[in-house]
Amino acid sequence: MGRFHNLISIHDLTREDIDLILKTAAEMERLTGQWGRLLQGRIMACLFFEPSTRTRLSFESAMLRLGGNVLGFADVSVSSAGGKGETLADTVRTVEQYADVIVIRHPLDGSARVAAEFATVPVINAGSGAEEHPTQALLDLYSIWKLKGRIDGLTISLCGDLKYGRTVHSLGIALSRYDVRIRLASPPTLRMKPTIVQDMEQAGIEVTQTDSLIEAVTDVDVVYMTRIQKERFPDITEYDKIKDKFRITMSEVKRMRDDTIILHPLPRVGEIDPEVDPTPNAKYFEQVYNGVITRMAILRLILE
Ligand code: CP
Repeated sequence: MGRFHNLISIHDLTREDIDLILKTAAEMERLTGQWGRLLQGRIMACLFFEPSTRTRLSFESAMLRLGGNVLGFADVSVSSAGGKGETLADTVRTVEQYADVIVIRHPLDGSARVAAEFATVPVINAGSGAEEHPTQALLDLYSIWKLKGRIDGLTISLCGDLKYGRTVHSLGIALSRYDVRIRLASPPTLRMKPTIVQDMEQAGIEVTQTDSLIEAVTDVDVVYMTRIQKERFPDITEYDKIKDKFRITMSEVKRMRDDTIILHPLPRVGEIDPEVDPTPNAKYFEQVYNGVITRMAILRLILE
């Protein structure tokens, strides 16, 4: 077994663990094209009970580039969990007979932890409800480290839907392992969970909260923008009221420092104007590539 068994929550990782993943990712990037067949003969199962483009395909790309094989489903309706009501526990106990590692995305908070309790093979959380998306946070940190040369000492704004956005929950927890300043910018109804703010403050992080996007983008090193998570709103009229309130356009970019980078976990649905894409600040498609590299590192540390 590798350095880690499961990867369920950023809460389970120390700063040393995270630094090891980032350094392994840097090593994977340095070895580009010379990865050999490190995971030859190993099989990864992707169980996606919710839609995904980047997370599933980048995990599959990472495994294939390392010489391994992949199987799974991208649409729960074609599985016995969707079509026949099979439990998550039984699905996991079945799939582990076919694969050496399970990557799971599920709409319920706590689902990845439950899957790990029933599995004997490692389980990787690829997004659990509105709760966490730890591998996204790790690729976000890798992107920041690679683009800014460090994480300690930076001022980072987390913007958009901080209530339902699972990527910002995991990233906020991960950043609290470092010496950073954090600005939390959202519409008032979509503020960050108080428990995560408390975790950050207890870790000694300076945290400020604002509902002004202009304040969030001014004089910071990183602007991390997120989508308003329409699918998690209990009342769609509430979504309609705020969906266009937080948008980065050229007007916001003009307020940024030249060296401010803009990241976004993607997909976006309008919160960053495509006019921003060609600016030197926009790094979100480079961030997508970092996802493959970081997931190669994670698979290697778990399986090699
Ligand atoms: N960032 C992210 O999780 O994207 P997908 O939903 O496309 O996997």
